[in-house]
Amino acid sequence: MSKRIYLDYAATSPLRAEVRKAMLPWLESGNPSSLHVDGRRAKGAIDQARERLSAALGCEFGECLFTSGATESANAAIVGAALANEDLSRRRVLISAAEHHCVLHTQSILERLGYQVKLLPVGGDTRPDFEKVAAELTADVLLIAVMHANNETGAITDVAAIADKAHEVGVLVFSDAVQTFTKIPNLVKNLKADLIALSAHKIGGPQGAGALYVKAGTKLKPFVGGGGQERELRGGTENVAAIVGFAAAVNLPMSDVMTKTARDNLQKRLVAGGAVATLPPGTPTLNTHCHVRFPGVDSESMLIRLDRAGVSASAGAACSSGSLEASHVLLAAGFSESEAKEGLRFTLGHGIGPSDAILAADRIIQTAQAILGTEKPRFAR
Ligand SMILES: Cc1ncc(COP(=O)(O)O)c(C=O)c1O
Repeated sequence: MSKRIYLDYAATSPLRAEVRKAMLPWLESGNPSSLHVDGRRAKGAIDQARERLSAALGCEFGECLFTSGATESANAAIVGAALANEDLSRRRVLISAAEHHCVLHTQSILERLGYQVKLLPVGGDTRPDFEKVAAELTADVLLIAVMHANNETGAITDVAAIADKAHEVGVLVFSDAVQTFTKIPNLVKNLKADLIALSAHKIGGPQGAGALYVKAGTKLKPFVGGGGQERELRGGTENVAAIVGFAAAVNLPMSDVMTKTARDNLQKRLVAGGAVATLPPGTPTLNTHCHVRFPGVDSESMLIRLDRAGVSASAGAACSSGSLEASHVLLAAGFSESEAKEGLRFTLGHGIGPSDAILAADRIIQTAQAILGTEKPRFAR
């Protein structure tokens, strides 16, 4: 088979060469908490990484904590805020229904702690409706979780507008900015959130490293207790090499004009070949995401065949049995169960050019037509 085309950057992005090079010397390092020279060197590397990350985020050095990834960051933020609100003076937590599972699954923990969790409806564009959100923002709410860009569709939410409204009644704002970090600058200023979750492996960094921005003065209790690392908010010996790699990825562009052209080509060609775009026209969307459905084509069969045809892509969340569930994002956006099982996500990034997009589009259309039994002998290019 000819060239494989990787279009699953939103799941994980290829490790950048610059990141690998920066990480290698730190694969063996002292414990950053040790007092000796080896420990101090490791601590210095983490400090440098924190400086770089906080500069990219636009926050103070001490407002940025390292974690094992965005899943941990989201739990540390949401559950940590709930634990710190000891007297349950604010009993409600609002979570947008199209959030990543790492946010949605805090619901059961919150409920065990005595909170009432309200899932906020999203519109057909997979974004929460501002008016409906505003109506829920009352003085008994502790925290609202609204992601910046949806990981499946790439739709971008105006988190700052929600944050302004939330802050009027003292509600904390948590935003999962995993998909926008390094694609949209100055997230702290742009989002106005109190807590922001980030992940290294979505930006060309290594898996197993993440960060949590905690606005100065925000009350949190540790979700992972231990040896007092990360301002006593996240115990455990730091993964020095991964943290160094995360910081090395921060200034490397994930997407550029070429990525956008490639995404636009892909989307146009797929729609011309029988696909239906998931998002309504005009929805603000990341340059890296193309989300479509081929009516009548189940995404699981499509992904298996696409893999054989040399295209790596994804759909809704994979469940533990290895088979695909209908996308909770599409269900929340009002798509039927069968439509939600047709969703396909193609995500692009650094290194994917317009010719890759055209090649991939042809393979994707051919695969869909083979499943539908409408395959034509050749494609016009
Ligand atoms: C929007 C979003 N949030 C959270 C996560 C979880 O990130 P991590 O793999 O670093 O735990 C992901 C990754 O799939 C994501 O896309």
